[in-house]
Amino acid sequence: MKIFLDTADIEEIRIAARWGILDGVTTNPTLYAKVGGSYEDVLRQICDLTSGPVSAEVVAEDVEGMLREGRAFANLAPNIVVKVPMCEEGLEAMARFAEEGIKTNCTLIFTANQGLLAAKAGASILSPFVGRLDDINEEGMIVIRELVAIVELHDLDAEVLAASIRHPRHVTEAALAGAHIATLPFKVLQQMVRHPLTDKGIKTFRDDWEKARAAAAAKDTEAAKVDARQN
Ligand code: E4P
Repeated sequence: MKIFLDTADIEEIRIAARWGILDGVTTNPTLYAKVGGSYEDVLRQICDLTSGPVSAEVVAEDVEGMLREGRAFANLAPNIVVKVPMCEEGLEAMARFAEEGIKTNCTLIFTANQGLLAAKAGASILSPFVGRLDDINEEGMIVIRELVAIVELHDLDAEVLAASIRHPRHVTEAALAGAHIATLPFKVLQQMVRHPLTDKGIKTFRDDWEKARAAAAAKDTEAAKVDARQN
């Protein structure tokens, strides 16, 4: 499963890229609002940090507006994927983008049927929102499982991206469900790295190493003293 970072924060992306685990980035207007500045500049900087897909979301509500915004994003870098919301206008825009050879990520998917329609319209990435479904007492992971099964059963040319990930368990479940991609907030990525027994083990090994080195140094000093007395 590919791991994307769900952020517009350049420093977070830089760190994940250094860890060697970054396969791409997703942004949205809310994530962009947290960093501000020019969205285009932010996208260019992200595309310099990863050669993987970088999703840039349109905000227009009409087809022509979506096409105008998406084409401008696509011109910024070859790895830009235009993020389009699931709606009637979005389907038409995704079909037109597909004709133009521009890749799209269909966002705000909450049912397998919405994902099926997006794939048929030509979206290359389908993004069901797991956490937001869990928030309203539904089971978001069911949509991931159903959509992965549909994509595989019908050999659809699209990848399922588990979005709206809230915690590390979501990542494990998405991987087990066969999601092709999961996009994670940086905090969840950090949580995945850590385990209290790993931290404890690192400390114990370091302490034992220091003790062993101190004992060896003391032994060397004692031996040197004995040599000095004998000579
Ligand atoms: C990803 O593409 C989505 O925009 C994102 O995962 C939404 O997550 P949220 O529900 O935490 O806002």
